[in-house]
Amino acid sequence: MGLPMRVDDKFLRDLESKVLAYRNRDKDSADRKTYDEVFDRTTLMTLYDLMTNEIIDNLDFPIATGKEGNVFRATTHDGGYLAVKIYRMSNATFNNIQKYIAGDERFRNLGKSRRRTIHTWAQKEYRNLERMGAIGLAVPKARVCVKNIIIMEFIGQDGTPAPHLKDMKLENPQEVYDKLFGNLKRMYRETQLVHADFSEYNVLMLDGEPIIIDVGQAVLNTHPMAMEFLKRDISNLARFFRKHGIKSDENDMLKQIAGGP
Ligand SMILES: Nc1ncnc2c1ncn2[C@@H]1O[C@H](COP(=O)(O)OP(=O)(O)OP(=O)(O)O)[C@@H](O)[C@H]1O
Ligand SMILES: [Mg+2]
Repeated sequence: MGLPMRVDDKFLRDLESKVLAYRNRDKDSADRKTYDEVFDRTTLMTLYDLMTNEIIDNLDFPIATGKEGNVFRATTHDGGYLAVKIYRMSNATFNNIQKYIAGDERFRNLGKSRRRTIHTWAQKEYRNLERMGAIGLAVPKARVCVKNIIIMEFIGQDGTPAPHLKDMKLENPQEVYDKLFGNLKRMYRETQLVHADFSEYNVLMLDGEPIIIDVGQAVLNTHPMAMEFLKRDISNLARFFRKHGIKSDENDMLKQIAGGP
């Protein structure tokens, strides 16, 4: 999907003014800076491209501002919704990203340029989503990835983004725990991936079902730090559900996930 030959300047101006409106809505100057960083001209062009290719029709509103980028809700031509995750091209978290890409054999040939690293990072998240989705793990469906932008299934109800696991009162914590544990186990065994940032902040709850998000930093189990990341993921799962009365043994969990056939 290449950029159109002639970019409609009016369209870009419209998009820019909309972005400006989001930006000005945020009183916090740090948040404003985030907007300036996330919508550089190339990113606006890529969004333009996604719109002319009718992948999205409109960028509706920001759902969240994260360490590495922003997530927006978008409307499609048929009135559905998608989530748009835009990685910031500025240097804020560049070093942090490098840590996860170095050591992943899939990205051995990565060049030094920041732009390429961030594109690779977005692609990594996209491919991880695809790989997990392909075996039916509870993650948003991957749709399109162009440059620093990932388009995926919108997790929410009637256009409202789903809440995080951390904010939920759980009616049946054991069931949610079992589902999440089962997902982490299959993730490790069947996709050879370790989430590496698993916590109640990266699980959305939709209709009582936990959906795991933010898989950009997931690493292959051959990554030198894979075991360390897996232990941390397990410990976050155990810690959160302990507060909900679920007893679990982290060593046993680790054995069940990574030990033996
Ligand atoms: N597919 C989705 N559907 C609905 N909301 C989403 C989706 N993906 C992400 N979000 C929302 O956007 C937030 C940030 O997304 P994500 O965790 O992937 O990005 P991040 O930049 O790593 O953020 P953080 O630094 O907060 O971890 C999520 O916590 C969630 O609220
Ligand atoms: Mg997150």
